[in-house]
Amino acid sequence: MSHLGSVCRTQRAGFEAPRVEEFIHFYYREGPMKPFLKWAGGKYRIVHRIKEQLPPGSRLVEPFVGSGAVFLNTDYPSYLLSDSNADLINLFQVLKEEGEYFVQYCRGYFIPASNREEEYYRLRFQFNRSRDRKEKAALFLYLNRHGYNGLCRYNAAGEFNTPFGRYVKPYFPEKEMIYYARKAQQAVFVCQDFRVAMVQAKPGDVVYCDPPYVPLSSTANFTEYSSGGFGLEEQIKLSELAARLAEKGVPVLISNHDTEFVRQIYRGAQLTSFKVRRFISCNGDGRNKAGEVLALFGG
Ligand SMILES: C[S@@+](CC[C@H](N)C(=O)[O-])C[C@H]1O[C@@H](n2cnc3c(N)ncnc32)[C@H](O)[C@@H]1O
Repeated sequence: MSHLGSVCRTQRAGFEAPRVEEFIHFYYREGPMKPFLKWAGGKYRIVHRIKEQLPPGSRLVEPFVGSGAVFLNTDYPSYLLSDSNADLINLFQVLKEEGEYFVQYCRGYFIPASNREEEYYRLRFQFNRSRDRKEKAALFLYLNRHGYNGLCRYNAAGEFNTPFGRYVKPYFPEKEMIYYARKAQQAVFVCQDFRVAMVQAKPGDVVYCDPPYVPLSSTANFTEYSSGGFGLEEQIKLSELAARLAEKGVPVLISNHDTEFVRQIYRGAQLTSFKVRRFISCNGDGRNKAGEVLALFGG
């Protein structure tokens, strides 16, 4: 069964009538469903590989949900989706609660007058000051699509500080957001550290972890996704928690770069490796093929 039926059934009051044709078109389109956010390390392009390795279960737990590429392209009955980035989780929660009304509210920020440098910095300042959940969520989407390279960067004070992106006409991801809002009715979104998320998994669940990558070399350290880094200590802790869950009968799949360190900490897991084309350096010719590994603990 597809999740089409369950999403329609779980529609909340406050949603407009579903545009069924559009929804069906999206569901049966060729290729994976695209997340509405640009996100570093997004798994959209390799989601088919990940799906091959994911065992069935009654709930998928994702402690590093990011833009949600795996959530969008799998069909579990329910989801526990978390991330340490509070702005990201707030956006998903507001979108889940308000659906199309929120999507139309966001549209107001995607007008030519908002795509000017001065206005970008004014709205970025407003975002950093805002205490209003809905305004903050819409501005986070605006910054994601109008900022440089979709980068999500914060200064030491926790303020968003990505510079203006200079795009001719930033794309407003209306259809992608509507799809996300509907599928989000099957999910619970929580802002929490992976150490907390991992211990919430119970037998019957499947866990998919997409932590910030282990650096390929000491000069390619791209681990700053939100304030606070993710170092080798956290990578080791994650592998230990995965092994512990597997012992309890909860399978855990982890993605990472294929390096010696990664193979060392994931020993005992079943490994699948392949090459991925990705932009990993800042210069123009940074198009490299990096080795990617999927480690299945238990399952
Ligand atoms: C590689 S990205 C996930 C990408 C996601 N799979 C996708 O397709 O978009 C890593 C995520 O881990 C989150 N993160 C970083 N440190 C974390 C921590 N200590 N606990 C939970 N999440 C963390 C980041 O905010 C980021 O969204």
